[in-house]
Amino acid sequence: MRVGVLISGTGSNLQALIDDDAIDVACVVSDRAQAGGLERASRAGIESLVTADEAETAAFLDRHEVGLVVLAGYMRILSAEFVRRFSGRIMNVHPSLLPAFPGAHAVADAVEHGVRVTGVTVHLVDDGHVAADSGPIVLQEAMAVSYDDRAENVTERLHEIEHRLLPRAVRLFSAGGIEVVGRRVRVRDEHLA
Ligand code: GRF
Repeated sequence: MRVGVLISGTGSNLQALIDDDAIDVACVVSDRAQAGGLERASRAGIESLVTADEAETAAFLDRHEVGLVVLAGYMRILSAEFVRRFSGRIMNVHPSLLPAFPGAHAVADAVEHGVRVTGVTVHLVDDGHVAADSGPIVLQEAMAVSYDDRAENVTERLHEIEHRLLPRAVRLFSAGGIEVVGRRVRVRDEHLA
């Protein structure tokens, strides 16, 4: 399955997808010209586009015939129209155990709240993404937080989890290993790692 990846920044999650031999990253879109992830794409010989325009983004993804759109640190809010156009085929990685701490400052919010456990969520994007990082949860992994932890080092440890969990979710999706039943996602046993 061909995968299109949307980024805004460093692109370490994009790199994890590129480095996975079982995943075909067909194209990359960044809404920021300075995004470090663009360099990663070009190093891997992957065509990229810089645009903040949704119609251009959608046309580019269509031209590359992507079966899955992955939001890997994409900081722009997608319209309900865009989400419907790629309905059930958009995946997001978020640095908290949703539905706790949605939004752009999830790690700092969780640490400030004093949580003893946080983690990573990979979920499918529905129309509610507009406000709340909602949508059926594909995979989650939890991690302990100690009193001395700060947002910076928690972010670092979460990244390590993301770089494992996101490629795994993409592989599951590509292999037809997940089935959405209402809000819940069934991961077919034979596809469990
Ligand atoms: C990740 O922490 C992801 O969960 C969040 O944005 C960050 C992107 O990091 N949505 P990178 O650009 O993949 O390094």
